[in-house]
Amino acid sequence: MDEVVIIDEIACENGDGIIAKVTINRPDKLNALNQDVVKSLKDMCKWAEENDSVRCVIITGAKPNPPPEGKRAKPHAFVAGADITEFAGKNSTEIRELFRDNAIEAIWNLSKPTIAMVDGFALGGGCEVACSCDIRVASTRAIFGTPEIKLGLIPGYGGSQRLVHLVGYGRAMEMMMTGNNLSAEDAYRMGLANHLCEPEELEAKAMELAETIASKSMNTMKVAKKTIRAALDNGITDGVEIEAVAFASLFDTEDQEIGVQAFLTRTEPEWKHR
Ligand code: COA
Repeated sequence: MDEVVIIDEIACENGDGIIAKVTINRPDKLNALNQDVVKSLKDMCKWAEENDSVRCVIITGAKPNPPPEGKRAKPHAFVAGADITEFAGKNSTEIRELFRDNAIEAIWNLSKPTIAMVDGFALGGGCEVACSCDIRVASTRAIFGTPEIKLGLIPGYGGSQRLVHLVGYGRAMEMMMTGNNLSAEDAYRMGLANHLCEPEELEAKAMELAETIASKSMNTMKVAKKTIRAALDNGITDGVEIEAVAFASLFDTEDQEIGVQAFLTRTEPEWKHR
């Protein structure tokens, strides 16, 4: 059986570390998140967190397989949601257990930078995977949406909360209340997608961003990510204080000295990631 999550370890251009390209691989089911995928994504997160060489994680969906003779091709998908077939017959206790300690939270809690590379449907749980990444790069054929309301449901992987931060209260309300899909252009316009490109340029754009991020000090990157996240949980007064403490703490790190010296001597910094 094919792996439901494939990890490609791509060496960084500067020879320091790897970019992990993670492909959710159930193209015949539009990469829907069944329990196998959820478990594999959680394992991937543990691996990425513990592997010091991982500088950035790109998450994407597998491209459609060629259709069998006489059948129509399946559409492109990032992830078309949680696997709805696994919902049938479940009660609230079973679902609470399945959704506890889930893969989307594991992606969100990674200290490493994450990029969602979205080509095709990013619906329901797929939109939530994308929203749990730090940055979203979308192709012009990407389609975002939270259609759960049409199933008598709401997002269950934190989508309602993360969407409010990404697109604002009113837009999140409209997405969740109507269940309507958003075109890639609309998603880009409202800040859900950071970048919009032609499908054939998508991978290059995601890799360009990943390389830029991967070339920085990973220690500083972790502090940056944690500090930006603090803005979601704190008011501005506390948030500014958190940043001030984090900023000062970097002056006890080797990489701050390396970065400043490299600027002063007009050389490239060789990070120790400490
Ligand atoms: N869970 C389980 N299976 C799914 C799925 C999901 N979320 N989304 C798509 N699939 C499966 C379909 O059942 C179909 O399987 P089959 O070929 O074995 O019958 C296959 O993926 C292809 O999907 P299909 O519906 O035939 O493609 P389409 O081009 O006609 O429609 C969508 C594409 C995305 C509009 C449609 O698949 C859809 O609405 N999916 C569900 C989206 C959703 O509600 N997500 C939130 C879940 S909480």
